[in-house]
Amino acid sequence: MTISVMFVCLGNICRSPTAHGVFEQVVRDNGLQQHIRVESSGTGDWHIGESPDKRATVAAAKRGYDLQHLVAQQLMPRDFEQMDYILAMDRENLANIEAMKPTSYHGKTGLFLAYAPAAEVDEVPDPYYGGVHGFVLVLDLIAGASHGLLSQIRQECGI
Ligand code: 4NP
Repeated sequence: MTISVMFVCLGNICRSPTAHGVFEQVVRDNGLQQHIRVESSGTGDWHIGESPDKRATVAAAKRGYDLQHLVAQQLMPRDFEQMDYILAMDRENLANIEAMKPTSYHGKTGLFLAYAPAAEVDEVPDPYYGGVHGFVLVLDLIAGASHGLLSQIRQECGI
């Protein structure tokens, strides 16, 4: 059985590719890469085909996460046929996901930070217009939630 996880932000160049790279690494560290497929996308179309923002790539690399292979894409209706979890970085992303979601969708949608109960916030703040510190905060929040999400998937799916 393969579980598919899609991380969603606005542009798919800062937050959701960071979640993609970090969660992929956590999955690999736990030897579950045959069981869990990881994707990311943006609700907007401005950055389709682009690599992640350099600031995100550099911040991630400093902690040993590789984002260089990722290419921005937009969330598409077909994703609801394929992804078991579609997780948003903030409430605006989640509202856009819910607006696209067909009534037939049987997977889970929600905020990614719901899997990080120790975090003081429940949204990953958009770092695009800020400084380097924003990208470090994004990584901290995402690392915590990634471990929580993996535990949840293991429990729910028995892997
Ligand atoms: P992301 O950040 O949603 O975390 O990828 C953004 C990237 C680009 C823009 C906004 C947020 N933008 O306005 O182009």
